[in-house]
Amino acid sequence: MADQLRLGFIGAGEIAVRTAEAVAKAEHARLVAVVDANPDLARDLAERQGAEAEESVDDLVARKDVDAVYCAVPHFLHSTMAQKAARAGKHVLLEKPTGTGPEEAERSLQAARQCGVSFSVPFIYRYTPAWQRARDLVADGALGRLQMLHITYTASKPASYWQGGYTGRARSDWRTRLLQAGGGVLIMNCIHEIDAMRWVTGLEAERVYAEYGTFGTPAEVEDAISAVVRYEGGAIGTIAAGSRHPGGAGPIGNGGQRIVGVGGQIVLDRGHLWGYSEEGADGLPAGQWTDLALPEADPRTLCVEDYAQAILAGDPPPVPEDAALHAMRIIGAAYRSRDTGKAVRIEEVGRKVVMGVRPLN
Ligand SMILES: NC(=O)c1ccc[n+]([C@@H]2O[C@H](COP(=O)([O-])OP(=O)(O)OC[C@H]3O[C@@H](n4cnc5c(N)ncnc54)[C@H](O)[C@@H]3O)[C@@H](O)[C@H]2O)c1
Repeated sequence: MADQLRLGFIGAGEIAVRTAEAVAKAEHARLVAVVDANPDLARDLAERQGAEAEESVDDLVARKDVDAVYCAVPHFLHSTMAQKAARAGKHVLLEKPTGTGPEEAERSLQAARQCGVSFSVPFIYRYTPAWQRARDLVADGALGRLQMLHITYTASKPASYWQGGYTGRARSDWRTRLLQAGGGVLIMNCIHEIDAMRWVTGLEAERVYAEYGTFGTPAEVEDAISAVVRYEGGAIGTIAAGSRHPGGAGPIGNGGQRIVGVGGQIVLDRGHLWGYSEEGADGLPAGQWTDLALPEADPRTLCVEDYAQAILAGDPPPVPEDAALHAMRIIGAAYRSRDTGKAVRIEEVGRKVVMGVRPLN
């Protein structure tokens, strides 16, 4: 087994810088080459990490010393880049969301399958102590049968965010454009919580009803959304998200992600986890709210390291290839529901175009 997974980056913008830092810290990964539509950004990131800047995506994916391609570009380019990397025989680590909608997400995944390479998404919440402990508690039955899952996201993104993210590293308005971003706060931010909730509870969504709007953001995409989700087995969920709530989460926090069972509940907020179990469970005294002490962690580095080790060993990636697609179907159903005014069944979303995927070779 090789010592280190050799990564090529497509995109050297805001999040690529942070992922490159994680790669530098990970024992079994190394950044080899970077490409960006803005050559200055590619050179800058390559120089910081001792890698090489490439002039084109084709050149990057053709490199023999690249084992896997990490791609972090505007959403509308994700599927195209994933297909290019897969066709060149590279493993694909694609940022969320894996397309502007479930159809593109499906295409990204199918490309990897047809080319015999692995496909994964850095869903870093899976590497946070709070979500990991939540998963253990649910698996141990501390909450009993699950009845409600609540996702809350409350932020106040500054106007500058829409022209270059939080750092302004790559100046562009793609985040404001519906066709380029695919949507607003739900697809850009809540996709993490949607994935984590599914990973923790194991519950699959059955149908979604949503309402959304744009209230305080100079963008075509939504900055406020409210959705109701019905899960297989009967549990009910809500998603309430806003990216232009003045004051952000405020003194009481987001209100948290809440998982409620018939025997207890847990609340996650800002890296904290509180639990209540009527009968008690590991670390949870019976009948009393407990603030569970959690260790510090660097989820992005843990995610890169775990991924690199799995790919080097020839194992499937730890975040399974279809994880993003499941989240994207919920998101796609929510957007379609608002447009139709009706609840949308998950099985109706993202399948039609799949039939039309061109064979790759
Ligand atoms: N996992 C996370 O926690 C997380 C956090 C932030 C962003 N993201 C995701 O990462 C992706 C990138 O986000 P960002 O904030 O870094 O955006 P960004 O705009 O800062 O960076 C995107 C980069 O892509 C480059 N680019 C555009 N077209 C290109 C092309 N044809 N070929 C090569 N490069 C091209 C741009 O020049 C820019 O440098 C998005 O999908 C975003 O949702 C993930």
